[in-house]
Amino acid sequence: MAGSLWIQGCEMFDKLSSWLSADMAIDLGTANTLVYVKGKGIILNEPSVVAYHFRDGKKHVLAVGEDAKLMLGRTPGSIEAIRPMRDGVIADFDVAEEMIKHFIKKVHKRGSFAKPKIIICVPHGATPVEKRAIRESVLQAGARKAGLIAEPIAAAIGAGMPITDPTGNMVVDIGGGTTEVAVLSLGDIVYARSVRVGGDRMDDAIVSYLRRQHNLLVGESTAERIKTSIGTARMPEDGRGLSMEIRGRDLLNGVPKEIEVTQAQVAEALAEPVQQICEAVLTALESTPPDLGADIVDRGVMLTGGGALLGDLDLALREQTGLSISVADQPLNCVALGTGKSLEFESQLLHVIDYGNSGRG
Ligand SMILES: Nc1ncnc2c1ncn2[C@@H]1O[C@H](COP(=O)(O)OP(=O)(O)OP(=O)(O)O)[C@@H](O)[C@H]1O
Ligand SMILES: [Mg+2]
Repeated sequence: MAGSLWIQGCEMFDKLSSWLSADMAIDLGTANTLVYVKGKGIILNEPSVVAYHFRDGKKHVLAVGEDAKLMLGRTPGSIEAIRPMRDGVIADFDVAEEMIKHFIKKVHKRGSFAKPKIIICVPHGATPVEKRAIRESVLQAGARKAGLIAEPIAAAIGAGMPITDPTGNMVVDIGGGTTEVAVLSLGDIVYARSVRVGGDRMDDAIVSYLRRQHNLLVGESTAERIKTSIGTARMPEDGRGLSMEIRGRDLLNGVPKEIEVTQAQVAEALAEPVQQICEAVLTALESTPPDLGADIVDRGVMLTGGGALLGDLDLALREQTGLSISVADQPLNCVALGTGKSLEFESQLLHVIDYGNSGRG
């Protein structure tokens, strides 16, 4: 009796807190962090970067998000721009916590005294230690409860896939750090695999290609700009495609040099990471129980994540896997939208959220 009164009391307190605070869903990505506020949608979308200024032997936060990204590769000795996430997981916890805190503060209702409940997504392959650390960071950053949801489930919900149906659904989330391939049925993961190939690896491939083929040194930001402007996963039909002028440093004489880069060259540079994504999809299909595999052949594969925007990636995947491939409506937002939906429709999706010891929804 006393126990049930206590539970009722807790539920009422939780409802009141939810009402007073802005409960949130966070997609803490290697490249971008998105915050979804319950009842409002995505209200923050910024690069996962923090810049510190070193003064008097101490480090001070100088900028977070967009402003900090502009500093990447352009900092003097006294400033350091850091990306706390690498390969889909937190590589630097202090910096990640600082970043989460900053973003929560930015979106949380001004003057609100109730702490928010936060659902945050984690890669399917995150270890228990990594999961505990992420939960801790979110609680430290000011959440009253921290729920975790597996990224592929969030991506599939956000892409509008019918994940609770008794049919096989394959989602491929190509982020900055990783590509996660997952097969879902009846609201849960049947198979998932994460490969450390994503947008960052594509940028690195462009940097190496230009160094090898043109003796030109370019930074990651230039490589990313080339990829997002003219990047393609397939050789253009005319053998050349579009082109753009880029600037870098000539490795032979150390002076700045401008060259023209063509789509054909970018396709050649990206061939290896694209191949690795295709192989991950084929491996997933081979490892899926036959009936679910047959569903995927019928229904096709859904691409999410920023990497899904790479030109002709859907065609390249179709050619190499024989599957029909669709790109989600807003690939960069799918995970945040799906995590947000799990917050909006929590009672229906409770089984996919893990609150650990921080209490139920
Ligand atoms: N038009 C485009 N073509 C190719 N790549 C793109 C395009 N737009 C964005 N990207 C890439 O998408 C990546 C970011 O995608 P996303 O925000 O889904 O990653 P993330 O969620 O931060 O990373 P992860 O899920 O691996 O932790 C970046 O590498 C970015 O360069
Ligand atoms: Mg992501």
